Amino acid sequence: MTDNAKSNTENNAKNNTKSNAKSHAKNPPASGALILVLGATGKTGRRVVSRLREAGRAVRAASRSGETRFDWTDRSTWAPVLEGVSALYLVGPPEPEPIADFVDQAVAAGVRRFVVLSGRGVEVYGDSFEPSMAEAERVVREAGVDWTVIRPNNFTQNFDEDIFHAPLVAGRLALPVGDVPEPFIDVDDIADVAAALLTEEGHTGRVYELSGPRALSFAEAVAELSQASGHPMRFEHITSDEYVAELTAADVPAEPARALADVLAWLADGYNAAPVSGVRDVLGREPKDFSVYAKAASEAGAWG
Ligand SMILES: NC(=O)c1ccc[n+]([C@@H]2O[C@H](COP(=O)([O-])OP(=O)(O)OC[C@H]3O[C@@H](n4cnc5c(N)ncnc54)[C@H](OP(=O)(O)O)[C@@H]3O)[C@@H](O)[C@H]2O)c1
Repeated sequence: MTDNAKSNTENNAKNNTKSNAKSHAKNPPASGALILVLGATGKTGRRVVSRLREAGRAVRAASRSGETRFDWTDRSTWAPVLEGVSALYLVGPPEPEPIADFVDQAVAAGVRRFVVLSGRGVEVYGDSFEPSMAEAERVVREAGVDWTVIRPNNFTQNFDEDIFHAPLVAGRLALPVGDVPEPFIDVDDIADVAAALLTEEGHTGRVYELSGPRALSFAEAVAELSQASGHPMRFEHITSDEYVAELTAADVPAEPARALADVLAWLADGYNAAPVSGVRDVLGREPKDFSVYAKAASEAGAWG
């Protein structure tokens, strides 16, 4: 057993004890029960919505611009989305401040199961970067509910649906990550795991770290994407300060630019570099390899 796997098991044992003592909801949501998905227009949320609907589940898809309006910063939107809900996929807000009140209100409204999207390494970096993830974990653990946390590595889809996309279209991705290996996780796998955790039994009080099957450096990842797509792209290592300067020149506000640079610089130390078994532990199958993503996204014309 690797040190990481061992620490996962130990954490889960500890968490299970705590959760079993406090949880008053041991039964999974009935198949007709309503599941609320937050961040439902985002990379994970919209895939969780489609998987649950394909499985015949009743889903309320919520965000500021999606099917059902929900805004973390507008409390008048909270009660309507919570009505009749028994289980919830929690993608936290940019700022952690409303999370505790929202979870309190959700529990009072009858929500009994929470699946929280967090990030791998959060137990080390805590609320130093993206403090919403640490706060969401803390709050659900203390809410006396049936909770499960997922902590994924860097998403594969960052390359075609998020922050790495525009630089790659322009042919150069420059990040302060050095040559650290990263076992990128495909968001399709995260969504499969989340859908299972929302609907199956046996995951209460557990923390699952999720990675892809293969760690590759950002330079290797970009080379694979370039080869698969035929689009010329290269990777360059730059310092954190240079990265912040590039982001702000591209109109990213200074504070999130610094947070992103800090999290990438933290990654460069290799804490998240080893693949982990979370996808297999939940789904009983291996996660998708990066090459499968590279081929499919290239065929879909992701980088032009
Ligand atoms: N990317 C990675 O590699 C990675 C790795 C580990 C963990 N994570 C964590 O994953 C989370 C993001 O999840 P994601 O990638 O699935 O989402 P995403 O693609 O970043 O989209 C964000 C979602 O949140 C919604 N949203 C934003 N502000 C909101 C607000 N004020 N009120 C209500 N909804 C709001 C957005 O929809 P609307 O615009 O319609 O409101 C959208 O659906 C973050 O916490 C991040 O730290 C990311």
